[in-house]
Formats: sequence, C-alpha cells, structure tokens
Amino acid sequence: MRLAGKTALITGGARGIGLAFVEAYLREGAKVAIADLTGAQEAAARLGDRTIGLTMDVTDQASIDAGVKAAADWGGGIDILLNNAAVFDLAPIVDITRESYDRIFAVNVAGTLFPLQAVARLMIAQGRGGKIINMASQAGRRGEALVAVYCASKAAVISLTQSAGLDLIRHGINVNGIAPGVVDTPMWDQVDALFAKYEGKPLGQKKREVGAAVPYGRMGRPEDMTGAAVFLASAEADYIVAQTLNVDGGNWMS
Ligand SMILES: NC(=O)c1ccc[n+]([C@@H]2O[C@H](COP(=O)([O-])OP(=O)(O)OC[C@H]3O[C@@H](n4cnc5c(N)ncnc54)[C@H](O)[C@@H]3O)[C@@H](O)[C@H]2O)c1
Repeated sequence: MRLAGKTALITGGARGIGLAFVEAYLREGAKVAIADLTGAQEAAARLGDRTIGLTMDVTDQASIDAGVKAAADWGGGIDILLNNAAVFDLAPIVDITRESYDRIFAVNVAGTLFPLQAVARLMIAQGRGGKIINMASQAGRRGEALVAVYCASKAAVISLTQSAGLDLIRHGINVNGIAPGVVDTPMWDQVDALFAKYEGKPLGQKKREVGAAVPYGRMGRPEDMTGAAVFLASAEADYIVAQTLNVDGGNWMS
C-alpha cells in the first residue's frame, strides 16, 4: 500500500503498459484517473470505484486542462502524473512524412510537456509536492536506422525529464522517467508489422528476434514495468531527481 491516499493521473491508461500501471497503482492503494483517447470509461468500469475514466487527447490543450481538472476534482487533487501516452511510426529517412513527424512530436513530446505543465501548476498550488513520471524508451538512448522520428521524440522526453526535474524539485515535485526496452503490447504489434513491411520479414519475426536479443532472454511484459513505476511514484524515490531508469532486461546501460 505504498500509494495509499494518493491520486494518480495516467495518460494512455486504457491498454498496454498504461493499463498495467493503473492496475499496479490500484493494488498499492491509490485512486487512479485513467485518461485516454478511447476505452478509459470501459477500463474504469471494469476496475472499480477507485478509478475514473476520462476521454483525453494529450495533443489538445483544452482536453488536457479539462482532464486535469476532472481528475483533481474527483481525486481531491493530483499527487502522481504518469505521462504514458505515445504513438509509434517508422520509415527510412527518405520516406519520412511531415504528417508522421508532426503526429509523433505532438503526442510524444508536446503530449508529455503540456500535461506535465498543467499538473505541475496544480501541484505547486496544492503545496504538497508530487511525483511525475515520463515514459521514455531505449529508443531515446540512441538512433535506429528506420526509427529516426520516434527515437528523436523519446530523446526529447529524456531531456524534458532532466530540465523539468531540475526546475520542479524546489517545489517538492520529483520528475523522473522510465526507459523500457521492448515490451509486448499493442504498440509492438504495430512495430512488428512495420518492420515486416520495410525489412521484408514475415509477421512475428521481428518480435522473436528482439526478444531473443534481450540479455534477460525475452521481451518485456507490461507487468515488468510496474515495479519501477510504483517505486518512482512512492516516497522511497524522494531523493531521485531528473533520472530516466532503464527497465529493459539489460538491453542498454547508462
Ligand atoms: N511497447 C514497447 O516496447 C515500448 C518500449 C519503449 C517505450 N514504450 C513506451 O511506453 C508507453 C506505453 O506504450 P505501449 O506499448 O503500452 O503503447 P500502446 O500503443 O499499447 O498504448 C498507448 C496508449 O496511448 C494512448 N494514446 C495515443 N495517443 C494518445 C493521445 N493523443 N491522447 C491520449 N492517449 C493517447 C493510446 O490510445 C493507447 O491506449 C509509450 O510511451 C511508449 O512509447 C513502449
């Protein structure tokens, strides 16, 4: 019950890693506002009365402001923000479209910064500190030939985590990140299909390859990410500031 009495807002919380975070925070005693484009109300109805489902688009400022207000009104403020929503795309440099670039940066970068800003303003006014966790990726640690824009967006998340962490710790707000490696979620089904297209692989092969290459011996599962997310949201992480923690079975060291 390390999060008892806390209210968390989790973006992209209706499926994949975000849903595992919702369930883990509930097990630790928190109230959780699930914010997503679709499926948030259904997830909340399934998970019970310590949750609320909010339809929220992290690319839309009015939607962010309304979602943050609704979560705070429901939960007696917000103690934890988990910026988890993101989108993926890949293409060789010569095929990248402006539309894909704009979408990835709108969701992954602006969609991290502006919820963080809205919740930081609220947390400062509340005067009781807080925890903000941004989902980065091993893709933010180095570039990949076909994944330029997503990699750049996650490098930006790591950098924003550092700057926001340094700025907000004077208000007792810890900002940290998590960098997963490869995790078997709906997003990775899309990644696998795109690699099938660009590398001529049968469906499922890229997944098997990346799983076999993880030092731990398999792809991650959403539940593998939850220990770090609970820890970074808890008082045990009070002295951890502006870091991005690799949770990747040994893929990356930094
Ligand atoms: N799966 C992996 O291998 C992996 C690896 C590294 C990092 N990550 C990161 O972990 C996080 C979760 O990834 P996942 O694999 O569970 O992804 P996913 O695609 O399964 O889930 C992402 C969720 O974000 C939501 N979302 C997308 N755009 C949104 C928007 N504009 N507003 C609100 N919600 C929106 C989606 O509806 C979805 O529920 C992401 O930040 C991702 O970049 C994933």
